[in-house]
Amino acid sequence: MCGITAHVGSDEAVEDLLTGLENLEYRGYDSAGVAVKNGVGIDVCKRQGEISKLKERIRGEVDGGGNVGIGHTRWSTHGPPTDENAHPHTDCTGDVAVVHNGIIENYEGLKRELERDGHEFDSDTDTEVVPHLVEAYRDEGLSPEAAFRRTVGRLEGSYAVAMVVEGVDGVYATRNGSPLVLGVADDRRYLASDAPAFLKFTDRVVYLEDGDVVALEPGDHRITDLDGNPVERPPETVDWVAEDAEKGGYDHYMLKEIHEQPTALAQTLQGRIGGGQGADGASPPAGNDAVELEEFPPGAFGGVESVQFVACGTSYHAALYATRVLASRGVEASAYRAGEYATSPAPIGDGTLVVAVTQSGETADTLESLRVANEQGARTLAVTNVVGSTAARESDDALFIRAGPEIGVAATKTFSSQVATLTLLGERIVRDLTGLASEGVGDLLDSLAALGGNVQRVVDESRAQAVAETYADRPSYFFIGRDVGYPVALEGALKFKEITYEHAEGFAAGELKHGPLALVTEETPVFAVFTGRHDGKTLSNVEQVQARGAPVIAVASEDHDAALDVADETLTYPEAAPEAAAVLANVQLQLVSYHVAKGLDRAIDKPRNLAKSVTVE
Ligand code: G6P
Repeated sequence: MCGITAHVGSDEAVEDLLTGLENLEYRGYDSAGVAVKNGVGIDVCKRQGEISKLKERIRGEVDGGGNVGIGHTRWSTHGPPTDENAHPHTDCTGDVAVVHNGIIENYEGLKRELERDGHEFDSDTDTEVVPHLVEAYRDEGLSPEAAFRRTVGRLEGSYAVAMVVEGVDGVYATRNGSPLVLGVADDRRYLASDAPAFLKFTDRVVYLEDGDVVALEPGDHRITDLDGNPVERPPETVDWVAEDAEKGGYDHYMLKEIHEQPTALAQTLQGRIGGGQGADGASPPAGNDAVELEEFPPGAFGGVESVQFVACGTSYHAALYATRVLASRGVEASAYRAGEYATSPAPIGDGTLVVAVTQSGETADTLESLRVANEQGARTLAVTNVVGSTAARESDDALFIRAGPEIGVAATKTFSSQVATLTLLGERIVRDLTGLASEGVGDLLDSLAALGGNVQRVVDESRAQAVAETYADRPSYFFIGRDVGYPVALEGALKFKEITYEHAEGFAAGELKHGPLALVTEETPVFAVFTGRHDGKTLSNVEQVQARGAPVIAVASEDHDAALDVADETLTYPEAAPEAAAVLANVQLQLVSYHVAKGLDRAIDKPRNLAKSVTVE
């Protein structure tokens, strides 16, 4: 997830672009850059790191008096966060500069074609094909606008793209599957991935649609479809104050990130199921049992005999979930808390794959485990959200969960993206080992493909706030589940304790009777996670706690009559395969924690004593 911005009009392009980028920095801060027209050419300034680093350099490199420009803040997907990979990207002549948010899925073929024709590339990015294609079409005699349209017609994937080109006093832009909004002021026009970027300058906004091509000129704009037919989109007035809108209108980043899960999951799964993304650019099609992890062609895990996951916190719960996915398909797998593995590593054999699961890729305990595994000669893989992170660099390979930046300390959307990624990884490993798809994989992949839409339904229809109000102010909260529901019970309890500061524990449902049941009273709400697998046993455990007077909140599929009938309260989700059901149940528990914490007026985004990335052992 990146942020793009553009400015046309006043001679304060640089200042306005920098303001816009600062307001978009939540979308990524691996690198930042601008391209500004100076009257005789295009000045480009771009730097690895946060926008503050760009600002330090910009004065000497960019004409401060330019009136047309584009800007970008990057969250890396293709290629590490370096100066070279920072946007804007230019063609061979420097006459065309482009910023892009999204993923161009067919860039490798386009790049080969352009290189054959003599174009030279400076970066590892997918984006750089765009300015070179525009250059190629201009060389064929097309106007800049026609070259832009022809180029866009060649792109597959998701994109919001903005371009400045020598000889044109304006900006061309388009979108497909990535956000792009137009800001309208009297003598100026703005573009951005999100309106907060320009709210300081104007509250008149046009929400562009997929396939719109917009041409900005000083004090004017034209919107057309890809074929050049005019499109009418009157500006709307937004009534946000700029500060609120930085959280997209949500009270907390955590709530925003809970709501972002459908988008995050679409990004995670894009191009990985069924041979490509859906026509709407958002979700992959159902009904095809191909699993394509672009980084790992079929056979890449052929020699793997067992898998050891190492991770901390929420990532450990995702890892534990992955062991259930693999074990149920006949692959030996265990999950270790990284702080323990680093001091008591498990024996490594010839076919052992050690997988570090880490959102940030920077958690010290996880990195230490990774180093121990590397020293022992294990094959290592990082499953992470951050391209260029230490875990990605120090592992033999990396698989990215593509959830976008997460700001709230309590991990939410990254858990969902981790489990979706790990489920696909599990399936890839099974196929490489056995040469066959695992049993029931069609249903599982269909459920994954439908997951984003189902998460949206959970978020829209959840009764979590009412449940939170009913059960607020109790001395202790228990969470139980089994199989893939067990990591969800652990994750539910972790989220609850970290943001509410109330005592909460997660248990394997069957383990309750071996000790924890002694603590259960009528003052101990028990959240019971049902996923559609082994639910009969969990129902017995529910009866055991109810016999001690504890209220039970069933988190279950909406057609699970047995669980819903017996429970005191219910939180439901649409029917799904157990692996996907676990994610849906977890979203309900995220919302319960959020609403209880909000009722208690806790510092939800920055809970006391905690940090997003823990870089000490
Ligand atoms: C910290 C965060 C947790 C996170 C854990 C592991 O404790 O507060 O939310 O789950 O680190 O982080 P990682 O980046 O390795 O997934």
